[in-house]
Amino acid sequence: MRLMSGGQIDTVMQEDRLFPPSAEFSGASVIGSMAVYEALYAEAKANPEKFWGDLAREELHWFKPFTKTLSWKSPNAEWFADGTTNVSYNCLDAHLSTHRRNKAAILWEGEPGDTRTLTYQQLHHEVCKFANVLKSLGLEKGDVATIYMPMVPELAIAMLACARIGVVHSVVFGGFSAEAIADRNNDARAKLVITADGGWRRGKLLTLKATVDEALAKSPTVKHCVVYERAGNKPAMTAGRDLWWHEQMAQVNANCPAPELESETSLFILYTSGSTGKPKGIRHTAAGYNLYVKKTFQWVFDYRDNDIYWCTADCGWITGHSYIVYGPLSAGATSLMYEGAPNWPAEDRFWEIIEKYRVNILYTAPTAIRAFIKWGDHHVDKHDLSSLRLLGSVGEGINPEAWMWYYNKIGGGRCPIVDTWWQTETGGIMMSPLPGAIATKPGSCTKPLPGIIPTILDENCQPVPQGQGGMLCMSHPWPGMLRGIWGDDERYRLQYWSRVPGQYLTGDNARQDKDGYYWIMGRIDDVINVSGHRLSTIEVESALVSHPLVAEAAAVGRPDDLKGQAVAVFVTLKGGEATEALRAELKAHVRKEIGALAVPDEIRFTNTLPKTRSGKIMRRLLRDIAAGKETLQDTSTLEDYTVLAKIRSDEE
Ligand code: PRX
Repeated sequence: MRLMSGGQIDTVMQEDRLFPPSAEFSGASVIGSMAVYEALYAEAKANPEKFWGDLAREELHWFKPFTKTLSWKSPNAEWFADGTTNVSYNCLDAHLSTHRRNKAAILWEGEPGDTRTLTYQQLHHEVCKFANVLKSLGLEKGDVATIYMPMVPELAIAMLACARIGVVHSVVFGGFSAEAIADRNNDARAKLVITADGGWRRGKLLTLKATVDEALAKSPTVKHCVVYERAGNKPAMTAGRDLWWHEQMAQVNANCPAPELESETSLFILYTSGSTGKPKGIRHTAAGYNLYVKKTFQWVFDYRDNDIYWCTADCGWITGHSYIVYGPLSAGATSLMYEGAPNWPAEDRFWEIIEKYRVNILYTAPTAIRAFIKWGDHHVDKHDLSSLRLLGSVGEGINPEAWMWYYNKIGGGRCPIVDTWWQTETGGIMMSPLPGAIATKPGSCTKPLPGIIPTILDENCQPVPQGQGGMLCMSHPWPGMLRGIWGDDERYRLQYWSRVPGQYLTGDNARQDKDGYYWIMGRIDDVINVSGHRLSTIEVESALVSHPLVAEAAAVGRPDDLKGQAVAVFVTLKGGEATEALRAELKAHVRKEIGALAVPDEIRFTNTLPKTRSGKIMRRLLRDIAAGKETLQDTSTLEDYTVLAKIRSDEE
């Protein structure tokens, strides 16, 4: 093993370079050495219930203390079940009697450059009022509200107001289509949609309310739509159904004491892609999730009371839920929230924001880092980034080149990088360096957090020898784990707990190196990772075959320098001409069915799809073709590949 303090790009593919934290960094960290980490890990492993029980008593406010930490009847976990708490209380009220009362909870910067600051006291005030608005509309504990908003503070306010009174929020990312919103409304039986008139993205106005109107035409369970005025674009308002946020807020007071809610009260659902065409509503509950995101936020980001912390994710994804809203706020942090694109008005917007707010901790995604590299160092060089102390990465593996650039160019060679591996389902970070303790290796998420016990198993569910790849599973429940798929217990069991009896199947492959470091090797299913976002190939295929001219479609991921993976599709037609116009039409169709994030990067028309003897599409062959590993000059000759396909069919 070699120790290095500065990276050299020509050696990036060497996996064993090790970057230990500086003595200065470790010295100021709570978990400041390998010995402290190992002791904590051993303690959690030896007696997980005591470990989590003690933490829960210390970290959360209990109206009624719990007496039982965990009830585990695989695959159903209940944490702290007989206690009562309130997530919104833990995020807000708990700070009001401390020195944090007047501390900035949210620092917000709009894309056009407008700014707002909300202290804990102010945020509490707004959340209490909006919770009263929800009550005035008849929403009660257990009801579902869909939130489809730009990245404005009101998005966090809406989430926390729901949490306060036990309304289950389902945040739908602003890039999803009307169809996708309607599907989610119907699956969750949402009673309310909270949206905005519009939002700003790369200088363009996104007309969110108009999209919601289209969705509501197909969402019979939704009774009301509350509209926050962000853009002033004066959308149509349907009398009796649509209500302005500011008008509703003017009619309520701010008196809304946090009610006692049972630990296992549903907190939110978040839809994510699985290996089938239908997104699943991942369900998280109050206390366990709250504890897990608070502790992991403190451990991984080594948060210190004066730090300015910036997570660049959107609240439409789990990263925004856990590490913009619930984790940082329950830890009493200052969380910066930015509305817009990284390249608006120019490619240095992130660096400008870091300089302006003196950001100490930056948490972003590899796809963004690759874009920054492409845009050029001169954008970075214009700004003073010396406030940065710690860097984070999430969403997909970070390739060593990007890691080195992030480390040297953004971190000035002094900031540890926490490469955090986790999932919508896990609620919070599962594997990551603890920055004051664990030396990092470019491309590895290093070690599991305390209380997390990963296993790597072969096809027969046996542990693989160290160094070999296999299915990444978790052998023990943890407080932040999903509690189910909304309305589909059987799918929950089948998807996560049946392949390896008694263990949680992550869906990722991984291997452990000789130092016990973990390396994520990609998915074992038909899920692809486009710009850090999960997409099911089957979802894209279903969208395509719903077009009247498409007979069959096969979607595969292919490597892409910026996005990580891009979507390539092979399409056979029932009629019509294989023209550029049809290609554009099919792209528009997928945009309408799912949203911009699913639009294929490449559409190839073909007369036939290569299939195995049993009729399964040979995805591996198509992946190779899409990646250019199998040369195919003219797509019409894909037929020739069916011969090859037949020969190789046993491999699939
Ligand atoms: O394949 C892994 C990849 O993203 C998947 C989870 O996606 P999602 O639920 O959308 O959550 C993304 C944000 C937590 C994982 O199964 N993934 C996420 N983080 C990493 C990663 N792959 C490698 N390294 C990571 N740090």
